[in-house]
Amino acid sequence: MDNTRAAPIRRGLPPGPKGTWIRGNLRQFSDQRLKFFLDVGRTYGDLSSFRFGPRRIFLATDSDLIEQVLVTDAKHYIKHFGARAYKPVLGNGLVTSEGEFWLRQRRLSQPAFLKNRVLSYAPMMTQLTDRMLSHWRPGELMDVHFEFSSLTSAIALKTLFDLDDPGDRERFTETLRLAFDLMSARFRSLLRLPTWLPTPANLRLKRAVAELFQVVDGFIAQGRARKEPGDDLLSRLVAAQDDDGTRMTARQLRDEMMTLYLAGHETTALTLSWAWYLLSQHPAAEEKLVAEWQRVLGGRTPNADDLPNLPYTEAVLTEAMRVYPPVYLIGREATCDLELGGYRVKKGYTVFMSQWVNHRDPKYFPDPEAFRPERWENGLARRIPKYAY
Ligand code: HEM
Repeated sequence: MDNTRAAPIRRGLPPGPKGTWIRGNLRQFSDQRLKFFLDVGRTYGDLSSFRFGPRRIFLATDSDLIEQVLVTDAKHYIKHFGARAYKPVLGNGLVTSEGEFWLRQRRLSQPAFLKNRVLSYAPMMTQLTDRMLSHWRPGELMDVHFEFSSLTSAIALKTLFDLDDPGDRERFTETLRLAFDLMSARFRSLLRLPTWLPTPANLRLKRAVAELFQVVDGFIAQGRARKEPGDDLLSRLVAAQDDDGTRMTARQLRDEMMTLYLAGHETTALTLSWAWYLLSQHPAAEEKLVAEWQRVLGGRTPNADDLPNLPYTEAVLTEAMRVYPPVYLIGREATCDLELGGYRVKKGYTVFMSQWVNHRDPKYFPDPEAFRPERWENGLARRIPKYAY
């Protein structure tokens, strides 16, 4: 083992729910996945185990164990099977890539994510938000998730590719949705034949992915052809250079752009939608939020400098992401036999860590089901362990 520690390793597996002989705990998971993880975490504690078919899975809920997997022993883990399943669309972008390649891409991308760079997008974000709000009418019933998804998609396409044209946007989101739906259907199906087999489903997926790639390659070619590099992320990634002067290839650019679009727009839309839902259920919090905006902004459009003066706004979003985390699960797969929490994680085992479970730990968040932005007001973020949220 590569991470042997002084503590002796127990025989067997961490405790966990009983499953069936062939499917293990897949049925319980498929029926109600969030409840399944929460029940397992609450019943069996810091480290538990179960099985999805032949796959052995550990669930780590203790923040030290999570740190061990994600940080201390990171080099002995790769991304889990669920993340890898998105490779046909995301290729080798930051979310799906590994090891040295990931590190190099991460270093190349990092400057584009410096705080000031990100803050420089604020005027464009508020402008697109104003555009959305200009067609909201008082008293009208809105599908907020549709509104926020369109908004964050527009923001992502503008910040990533400098794309503002509604036609371009539609082409991209339509081709992406089709490819993603087909891939998710493949992931859900029990009989998953290799992608190279020319089955009707595989051929449909292949055609959808080819069309999507053609659209994104077109955007990248447009971006590269511009005489003056823009402020968008694509321009920054095109210009990014490694210490040895190498740049990203067209393929790498495409993978990173797709990854950033997907990772960035759905998560932020979900955050806003759930926050709005929670506010609709908690009028006192909504009143306090609006009062803060009136006091600090007095009706004008905010800018990045206002952020430090909007602590309740931050608390509302932090609390919304605690109660309804946009990403509820992350996972890693062991590349060699390892130790975790006194047990042996064999090569090929998966370790899951669940925001849904951790954010409902009453040790750190008393009355965890309650939406209470005030809990963040007196420095809670600094008092809880780093991996509890
Ligand atoms: C509320 C908003 C967001 C949430 C909750 C969120 C959540 C996460 C989580 C949990 C991971 C870790 C996944 C893992 O290691 O298995 C992750 C990684 C990542 N996210 Fe986000 N994210 C958000 C917004 C964004 C945005 C706006 C972008 C880009 C524009 C983005 C880009 C990425 C990338 C590139 C990674 C992979 C990083 C790496 O491994 O180097 N995310 N995100």
